[in-house]
Amino acid sequence: MADAHVEVAQEHALDRDCTTLSRHVLQQLQSFSPDAQDLSAIMNRIALAGKLISRRLSRAGLMDNVLGFTGETNVQGESVKKMDVYANDVFISVFKQSGLVCRLASEEMEKPYYIPENCPIGRQTLIYDPIDGSSNVDTNLNVGSIFSIRKQEGIDLDESASDLLQDGHKQIAAGYILYGPSTILVYSVGNGVHAFNLDPSLGEFILSRENIKIPSHGAVYSVNEGNFWQWDEPMREYVRYVHRHEGCTARYGGALVGDFHRILFQGGVFLYPGTLKKPEGKLRLLYESAPLAFLAQQAGGRASTGTQDILEVIPKELHARTPLIIGSPEDVALAESFLNRA
Ligand code: F6P
Repeated sequence: MADAHVEVAQEHALDRDCTTLSRHVLQQLQSFSPDAQDLSAIMNRIALAGKLISRRLSRAGLMDNVLGFTGETNVQGESVKKMDVYANDVFISVFKQSGLVCRLASEEMEKPYYIPENCPIGRQTLIYDPIDGSSNVDTNLNVGSIFSIRKQEGIDLDESASDLLQDGHKQIAAGYILYGPSTILVYSVGNGVHAFNLDPSLGEFILSRENIKIPSHGAVYSVNEGNFWQWDEPMREYVRYVHRHEGCTARYGGALVGDFHRILFQGGVFLYPGTLKKPEGKLRLLYESAPLAFLAQQAGGRASTGTQDILEVIPKELHARTPLIIGSPEDVALAESFLNRA
């Protein structure tokens, strides 16, 4: 009898170890159609990018020319870090000659990057933030990569990428990779949210949590309170409210992916509202807010600008920013109830 239990447990462990990302995507789509195979292969390439970035981050302190700034500024006017450049190039490199993705749009590039040899077959666009939270890189704190996949519509001859200026419901998949004590990939193809841990001994992402559901309420509020003096009065009122209420606790790590990951698993709310200097906030709609909103919705959570659902927002340009309030449905609704008083 005991032997039978051991056998079942071993079989279960083996099945789990064999649930790799590419296999899981096919299971999710319940299809072996060419489109499903493509999406599975795209996820596999994203996972390869994640492994390469994770490897470099884990050895960063021992290598020359990995940490620090390049001395340049990006299209957002922000100082570029060497890791930003490396991670951006990794994503391009893993998709070359793959036939999978015709165009990549990244927070680090002013215009989309075309891979012409892929374009006759791959009509997908990968949108990504190669290193999210890059201010954490030099101090060995968590950072992430965020990705979103959309179908390319039309021919985009002038490279304006105007077909990307559509709402977040147009995403066919989204996710992130969190480079923390473990490297974790979280994704959705519109059928729930699933997490995979990178097993360094196998070099594979293995399923660790399926169908993650965000708690309807959580204790955490995650916001940079250093911006208090730059917020408008309704936002200040909201923060005064959480200060006065027992059971609220602040957690802010400086990397959206890490802060969102905590909330996805434990509940609560992340906020990056508009400020005096940046009325639209800091976060980019296509590379950050919309992909995480897609995941939040799939996990039973919500994402809002304060007055509009993030998935409904149509960007005016590729690098458009939005205020972001994301997390447990009850906590997002509470913040909105203050912000809507404006
Ligand atoms: O977009 C970049 C980002 O680094 C996010 O990952 C993070 O949540 C935010 O900016 C931190 O900004 P701040 O330093 O203004 O709090």
